[in-house]
Amino acid sequence: MKVINTIKELRQGLKKERQAGRTIGLVPTMGYFHEGHLELMRRAREECDVVVVSLYVNPTQFAPSEDFESYPRDFERDKKFAENVGADYLFCPSNAEIYLPNHLTYVEVEKITKRLCGASRPHHFQGVTTIVAKLFNIVMPDKAYFGQKDAQQVVVIKKMVDDLNFDLEIVVVPTVREEDDLAMSSRNTYLSDAERVEALVLSESLQHAKRLIDSGERIAQKIKDEMQELIESKPQVNLEYISICDNRTLEELSRVQGETLIALAAKVGKARLIDNIVIKM
Ligand code: PAJ
Repeated sequence: MKVINTIKELRQGLKKERQAGRTIGLVPTMGYFHEGHLELMRRAREECDVVVVSLYVNPTQFAPSEDFESYPRDFERDKKFAENVGADYLFCPSNAEIYLPNHLTYVEVEKITKRLCGASRPHHFQGVTTIVAKLFNIVMPDKAYFGQKDAQQVVVIKKMVDDLNFDLEIVVVPTVREEDDLAMSSRNTYLSDAERVEALVLSESLQHAKRLIDSGERIAQKIKDEMQELIESKPQVNLEYISICDNRTLEELSRVQGETLIALAAKVGKARLIDNIVIKM
């Protein structure tokens, strides 16, 4: 596996791969790998000739009050993981390499970035779409891999790809969970033992919603109320939102119908955690 820090060197390497007729898969990450990240890389390894993993903690998607500085980082560990999974290139640029001092251009997907997580993180998705668009231009992949864990991110990136005519396929990989069903996240490392136990209520509330729907409930507010009651029984879990929305437009639904996304965010101690399920009617 080649570790590359500059855009120029990565482009030179990938140009040769492309000329040799090889397909390229990109897995964008912010590092501190867990099984969720590795699953994306494995999928890319299965489907593409060349696997590029980018490892870059992107400052523009964090608000000043958020955890950019303290975001977990362990380059040597990540390098071993990516190598073991069979990645060909690990691209880890510096901030100076990605954002020139006079950087003025941002990619903004409207409307759908203001809902769900966008309500409390108003600049977050602009940071995400800007870095992902830059990575697409740098790597020019045939396929790029994203996790369903970040459901809104998937919807926003797909919209950007459609609207800006990026010539690539977005592959969505199901959420990888711990044995007890907690969605894997780099931010789970922030949880104390007691918080870790209470955080289980998030996936439990989603499973509860699924059971309600399986037994015939369709009224979104009723489902949200029961989820909220469960979550509020855990004093260390501070619910930010529950959304029951259309999985394409992210518009809130009053009744569960079509492809419905049930998504939530909560603060558990220092960690802001998200989770979701998609129900197909
Ligand atoms: P990061 O949080 O490092 O996640 C990188 C990729 O791994 C994302 O596509 C995310 O959805 C996926 N992922 C994380 N946890 C997962 C899980 N438990 N199961 C399946 N996939 C999971 O998301 C980002 O970084 C950034 O916003 C990025 C797209 C790299 C732009 O900076």
